[in-house]
Amino acid sequence: MTFNPPSDVMIYDTTLRDGEQTPGVTITTDEKIIVAEKLDKLGVDVIELGFPAASPGEQKTFKEAAKIGFDAQISGLARALTVDIDKAIDSDAEYIHTFIGTSPLHREYKLKMSKEEILNKAVSAVDYIKDHGLTAEFSCEDATRTELDYLLEVFGAVQEAKVDKINVPDTVGVTIPTKMNELISNIKEVIHVPISVHCHNDFGLAVANSLAAIEAGAKQAQCTINGLGERAGNASLEEIVMTLKKAYNINTNINTELLFNTSETVSRISGVKMPPNKAIVGENAFAHEAGIHVQGVLENSNTYEAFYPEEVGHKRRIVLGKLTGANAIKSKLDEYNINLDDKQFDQLFSKVKSLGDSGKTITDIDLRSIAEAIQGKPTTERIKLLGINVMTGDSTLPTATVKLDLDGKIKYKAETGVGPVDAALNAIQTLVNEIVHIELEEYHIEAITGGTNALGEVFVITVDEEGNKATGRATDEDIVKASIDAILSSTNKLLMLRD
Ligand code: KIV
Ligand code: ZN
Repeated sequence: MTFNPPSDVMIYDTTLRDGEQTPGVTITTDEKIIVAEKLDKLGVDVIELGFPAASPGEQKTFKEAAKIGFDAQISGLARALTVDIDKAIDSDAEYIHTFIGTSPLHREYKLKMSKEEILNKAVSAVDYIKDHGLTAEFSCEDATRTELDYLLEVFGAVQEAKVDKINVPDTVGVTIPTKMNELISNIKEVIHVPISVHCHNDFGLAVANSLAAIEAGAKQAQCTINGLGERAGNASLEEIVMTLKKAYNINTNINTELLFNTSETVSRISGVKMPPNKAIVGENAFAHEAGIHVQGVLENSNTYEAFYPEEVGHKRRIVLGKLTGANAIKSKLDEYNINLDDKQFDQLFSKVKSLGDSGKTITDIDLRSIAEAIQGKPTTERIKLLGINVMTGDSTLPTATVKLDLDGKIKYKAETGVGPVDAALNAIQTLVNEIVHIELEEYHIEAITGGTNALGEVFVITVDEEGNKATGRATDEDIVKASIDAILSSTNKLLMLRD
C-alpha cells in the first residue's frame, strides 16, 4: 500500500445529486437551497446540486443557487453529451462534472460503443466545457471494473484536453482498500491534475476505500451527508472528514462543529432517519450505559470516546438501563438538584435495575419522577382525563372528542384521524399544545391477556420541543383509553420540567 497522502483534502459533496438518487428520496428546489446553504456554511469545496438535464425543476434549482452566490463551487452532473452539458450551461452551473461508462459491461450492454468511440466522447465533452470557460471534472463511470490500460488512456486523453480534475468512481462499490490504493497509485503516475475518488457502499467499504485512495495521493473525496446515495449509499462525508482530522491529521475546509446539525437537516429533508449507531451523528454515537464506561467517561471522557461530541456539534448522553452504575444515577440526580439519602438512593437504584431487567426504557425524566415519588413528593398531574367519546365505523370518518382538565380549566376538543386511537391522540395533542408542544416518538400496543376482552398495554415515548423525552405506559381493556392514559402520563412527566 502506498502512503503518500496530501496535507489537505477537498470535499466534493454530492448529497443533492447522488444522495437524491437514494431510492424513495426526492428533494424540491426550496429544500435543495436549504441544504446547499447548510453545506456552504459547513465549508464543502464543491456542491453537486443536481443533474440539470434531468428536469426543468433541476434547472430552476441551479438558477436560484447562482442568484444566491455560494462560496462553494456549484457543480452540475452531465453525461458526456452536448445536450446535457448545454442544459448545465443554460442553468448557470459554473462547474460541470461529466462522465461516461468505460468498463466492458458499460461498453457492451449500456452504451453499445467501442473503446475508441467512448474515448472520443469523453474528450469532446471536456473540450466543450473548457471552450465555454467552465471548470470540468471528468469521471470514468465504473472505473474500478475498467481495464487499467484503457482507464489510463481515457484519463490521459482528457488531461490533454485540459480537464481540471479527474474522478475515479467505484460505481458498484465492489473494490477493496488495497486495490483502490494500487489503482490511484497507478493513475498518479500518468495524471498530474487533482485526482478525486467517489465510492459506493455496497460492501460497507465506501469510507475505507476513499481513505485508501487518499493514502495513495487522491486530493478530493466525493461524498454525501449521512452516506445517502444509490443502493447502499455513498461514502459518508462526516466519517471521512472526522477520520481525516483525528486519525490522519489531514485538513479539510469543513467546520466540523456543524456536522451534526447538517446531518439532522438532511435527515429531515430526505426523510431518511439515521440508525442510532451511525458513526459520528447517530443518537448513540456518544451515549454510554454500561456502569464501567460511564464511570470512566465521567472522570475523563477520552476513556471511552474517540473525540469530544462538541467537535461535531453532538451531545454526550448517559443512558439508563440494567447496565447503569451508581455513578451515572448520582450525576443525573446532581444535574436535577435532587438529594436522596442512602436508603432512598438504594431504592431508586434497584428500581432502575428492575426496569432495565424487564427491558423497559428509562428516560431522564422518568428517573426524575421515580426519584421524586421515592422522596414522597406529591405527583402533580397538570393534565387529567375527564372523558372521551369515539365514533368509528367503515362509513364514518373516525372522530374522537376528549375532555381534559388542563391546569384546572376544563377543555374539549374533537379531532379526526385514520382510526379512533389516532383521532384521540390528535385531540389530545391539539389541547396540550397550549402548554407544551409534544410529538409522539414511539407507540407500541400489546395484548397482555387473550380473548376479545384482552387487556391492551400501551407504551409511548413523547418528546417536547427541547428534545426532552418521557415514557408513558398504561393498561386497559379499551385500547383508546389505554393510549390516552399513556400519552397523558408521559406528557405530565414532561410538564414537571416546566413546574
Ligand atoms: O457512481 C458513479 O459512478 C456516479 C458517477 C456519475 C460519477 O455517481
Ligand atoms: Zn455514484
